[in-house]
Amino acid sequence: MLSGKRILVTSGPTHEPIDPVRYIANRSSGAQGTAIATALRDLGADVVFVTGPAQVPAPVGVTVVRVETALQMLDAVEAALPVDAAVMAAAVADWRVANAAGQKMKKTAQGFPVLEFIENPDILHTLSHHARRPGLVVGFAAETEKVIEHATAKRARKGCDWIVANDVSPATGIMGGQENAVHLITAQGVEDWPRMAKTEVAERLAHRIAQALA
Ligand code: C5P
Repeated sequence: MLSGKRILVTSGPTHEPIDPVRYIANRSSGAQGTAIATALRDLGADVVFVTGPAQVPAPVGVTVVRVETALQMLDAVEAALPVDAAVMAAAVADWRVANAAGQKMKKTAQGFPVLEFIENPDILHTLSHHARRPGLVVGFAAETEKVIEHATAKRARKGCDWIVANDVSPATGIMGGQENAVHLITAQGVEDWPRMAKTEVAERLAHRIAQALA
């Protein structure tokens, strides 16, 4: 269904260094992004998988580009263009440490380090407004309240075509778990998908992408 189509998938967290041995990161196992890349591969797509340091192994049979930071992820995404579609499932750190140290920071009697942050580029927004914008750009929204409202606003703000929205409030057990309950937000409206395995979410999304690109 997707043979001859080149699809970019971002996945996993980014790690933003504090010093050479410490970092800040978002919580992300990389499970959903990995499942999506796998499902797209199984439909015959040529998949470029740009991944931060994830807990699950990258799929075989895809082009794997490993990155650590958001800046590196943006470079890797731009280097992958042109693509027919992009699924941005990475949990990119919104900020990086502006005053990261070149050497390991030592404990001193003088007090504690103070970290300063600067904003990372928004990769999804950049791609959605890119001169070589893919024909279909899919973003994710992890929300803990007002999921549909926030995700609908996010779709407009980012400029992507679809948003896959999920409720990641701790009670759902979705974060780090095997299942996901998502809403697909498109220009046509909102679809509520039942709770299912992350692999099934991935397969369903891959089929939708195949239909959209057909
Ligand atoms: O704004 P928020 O992080 O909630 O948006 C989530 C979506 O945006 C995801 O698709 C994520 O991969 C993408 N994103 C990005 N670059 C960022 C932040 C988020 O591509 N710096």
